[in-house]
Amino acid sequence: MPAARGSLLNKQPIAVFDSGLGGLTVLRALRDRLPQEDYFYFADTRFLPYGDRPEVFLRERGVLIAKALARRGVKALVIACNTATAAAAEAIRAAIDLPVVALEPGVKPAVVLTHSGVIGVLATTRTLESERFQRLVGNHAHHLQVIAQACPGLAEAIEAQGPDSPQVAVLLDTFVAPLAAAAADVVVLGCTHYPWVAEAIARRMPAGTRLLDTGEPVARQLERLLAASNLLGGGHGRLTVATSGAPASVSATVERLWGTNLHVEHWEP
Ligand code: DGL
Repeated sequence: MPAARGSLLNKQPIAVFDSGLGGLTVLRALRDRLPQEDYFYFADTRFLPYGDRPEVFLRERGVLIAKALARRGVKALVIACNTATAAAAEAIRAAIDLPVVALEPGVKPAVVLTHSGVIGVLATTRTLESERFQRLVGNHAHHLQVIAQACPGLAEAIEAQGPDSPQVAVLLDTFVAPLAAAAADVVVLGCTHYPWVAEAIARRMPAGTRLLDTGEPVARQLERLLAASNLLGGGHGRLTVATSGAPASVSATVERLWGTNLHVEHWEP
């Protein structure tokens, strides 16, 4: 990217998007690593959950959001959602001329960490059924036992009822049991909502089980991409949060999850 364009783009925020507030677990890692940047976080809660939606819907929605963000003026895009990445990352990259960071379940680091040879992956139905996930496992973990456990209802319950709610506890009992039974010693949190319940997952696994989320590697990748395009810095550490759904209810959920009272605006891509 030419330097002149780089310096113009520099002051613009980094867009981060998810179906809802799972991506805040990624945003936290981004702000820890790059606190001087400005961020525009978009929660597409009108369409939450993504995890049960058809791939073609997710691809079209992802491209629509990415194009609208590019028009709004952002210098990079982080797809803070495994489900959207699985369905739409290639299409989004083809549709916009900005650095794009996509994330995928941390199967590769899990392969390095496992001693038992059994890896558990918790993710949405759509992520686990995707070609991208099948390829990831086929390329990197074909010699291991991979227990891929879909968790329908979990992301919504975390947002609607809260991470410590009885509803979430019942779902976790069901979804984590097969991983413990198979003696998985690494659990991949393959949905950005699940770090909100990492401790509850750990409690249901034998002591010493490693849990992997992707916030930190994504932050490092974003830093590399921004540096390569001469786009690092230029912000003031500002955060704007927007939703396609109801701002008041998203604001209440942010407060419950993050303990922070944030103004949330409505934004329609
Ligand atoms: N947070 C999203 C992910 O990482 C999906 C949650 C949903 O089903 O909307 O996959």
